[in-house]
Amino acid sequence: KKITIAIDGFSSCGKSTMAKDLAREIGYIYVDTGAMYRAVTLFAMRGGMFGADGGIDTAALEAAMNGIVISFRLNEATGCPDTYLNGELVEKEIRSMEVSSHVSPVAALPFVRKALVAQQQKMGEEKGIVMDGRDIGTAVFPDAELKVFVTASARVRAQRRFDELRAKGMPADFDDILKNVEQRDYIDSHREVSPLRKADDAVELDNSTMTIAEQKAWLMDIFKE
Ligand code: C5P
Repeated sequence: KKITIAIDGFSSCGKSTMAKDLAREIGYIYVDTGAMYRAVTLFAMRGGMFGADGGIDTAALEAAMNGIVISFRLNEATGCPDTYLNGELVEKEIRSMEVSSHVSPVAALPFVRKALVAQQQKMGEEKGIVMDGRDIGTAVFPDAELKVFVTASARVRAQRRFDELRAKGMPADFDDILKNVEQRDYIDSHREVSPLRKADDAVELDNSTMTIAEQKAWLMDIFKE
């Protein structure tokens, strides 16, 4: 029997690492929905849709929405899906600080959410899926059989993102990252359409003091139940 696994939580809380590992282990598809919001944001940045004040040209983005195709392809070397925007590999670019600092306002736009949520629901139709994001257990798959809500302190999460960017050889400043993490937490949990919150039937995990191996084992145990 295929089941749907929804993993939600705050920015950089380590949900994607956990979700990827579980998907690989049980042979399910893994979908990083944050990557989809990031790809739309990159598209808007490239199209000059952000004003100097950070405001978004929502009319232009809405008109372009139909032409934005986001897809995933398995990267044999990493064993993880890479993100493509209109056929172009953008996996590295969507992780930049610039995209991180523009993504939350884009993700708050109702027409953006409507388009991406519809795509996400389609992805879960055929095969067992592990999906990570902010609203998977509340809006995308409210009937998911397993829901996990991951939290960790903002400092711990900023440190994780810092280490990750450094490991990839990308520029990183701890204070900037911490500010970004806090800003995104705020915008993500205060937006009008499906704000970030724990689903009533989700299992909560605070992984502040857990190693990756411990988190993985915890999730595997929950899954087996
Ligand atoms: O998970 P990640 O940090 O890459 O997500 C980037 C941003 O995309 C989040 O800060 C949030 O604004 C948005 N997002 C969302 N809903 C999701 C996944 C991500 O609004 N399901």
